[in-house]
Amino acid sequence: MKKVILAYSGGLDTSCAIKWLKDKGYQVICFIADVGQGDDFTLLEKRALNSGASKVYIQDLKGEFIQDFIFPALKANAIYEGKYLLATALSRPLIAKYLVAIANKEKADFVAHGCTGKGNDQVRFEVTVNILAPKLEIIAPVRIWEFKSRQEEIEYAKEKNIPIVATKEKPYSIDKNLWGVSIECGKLEDPWAEPPGEAYQITKKPEEAPNQPEYLEIYFEEGLPKKLNNKALNSIKLIEALNKIGAKHAVGRIDLVENRLVGIKSREIYEAPAGAILYSAHKDLEGLVLDREVSHFKEIISLKYSELIYYGLWYSQLKQALDEFIDKTQENLTGTVRVKLYKGNCVCVGRKSPNSLYKKELATYGKEDKFNQKLAEGFIKIFGMSHQSKG
Ligand code: ARG
Repeated sequence: MKKVILAYSGGLDTSCAIKWLKDKGYQVICFIADVGQGDDFTLLEKRALNSGASKVYIQDLKGEFIQDFIFPALKANAIYEGKYLLATALSRPLIAKYLVAIANKEKADFVAHGCTGKGNDQVRFEVTVNILAPKLEIIAPVRIWEFKSRQEEIEYAKEKNIPIVATKEKPYSIDKNLWGVSIECGKLEDPWAEPPGEAYQITKKPEEAPNQPEYLEIYFEEGLPKKLNNKALNSIKLIEALNKIGAKHAVGRIDLVENRLVGIKSREIYEAPAGAILYSAHKDLEGLVLDREVSHFKEIISLKYSELIYYGLWYSQLKQALDEFIDKTQENLTGTVRVKLYKGNCVCVGRKSPNSLYKKELATYGKEDKFNQKLAEGFIKIFGMSHQSKG
């Protein structure tokens, strides 16, 4: 019998996909990745088996997700189109990597996912599988099956006794993991309409956030966060703690009309409280520690790096080469940043580092000033010389 490993989320699409693949003659093995979405995995396992899966793999990938995917993106300051911290995009190559590993273990020739034909995620899954295991065949049931609407799919589920959670039309499409929540569809499809309060899943409204600001100190070592308020925390605990504190202060809400890889513009909102705090603190520390040219050049690299993540090219040669550059820039990035959270804002208000390049005696306007202002005159003449219009 043909074996297929399906990336299973537990939603309507992937539940129907199990049955649909089975009807097409496949033995379906489900793979559930725990990337911090907070689902009840025992329940999902039952649902997969009741939908017709022959076996279910559940893997806790949170640690690997942070170390090998989130942290490299943080070190790179990778932000897509100036706003999106790439939570969904970062999880896809990791999930695809495990699809491939399980397919090898199970000697399966096929892998499958539940993405539609309009989004980025299909590209990310398939490009990754193609890079890691070019011989594996990929099936995308949602892209090819006969159901024309969600209603038809629900009818199919009922007819085939597929356990589904809510038959009512879900107002939003939500993807959640440790690094953030992505929310689209429904009322959000009107780019002019303000997102309704209920669309946000984890963050408080700024209006309802505490009236007192909260200060945090984040200690970084070689570009990675290690301590929160002087307390060493493992990376999972640290991100969970920052998500909680940030969410309370309405930090990390993003509203974006973005350019999808497949050519469509779409409006999506995001919540990434820990990401917002860590990105601003990390970038701020770079301001103190990195030399001007490295810092400016790194901005160009960040832009490209964010595109590579968004486009699903995590395992590309260029991404690996850029990692070498980024890691080099992080060698001295040790120090502490103090941030202030208040009603949706996260502002860095203090920073210190043993590797700081800040020299008070050069910057000061006070009497300790050691900067020789007379030298500026010659510098400006020579600096501006080649830009003069007429001789
Ligand atoms: N637009 C984001 C991306 O391409 C998120 C996609 C998934 N969003 C969702 N609500 N299911 O990375």
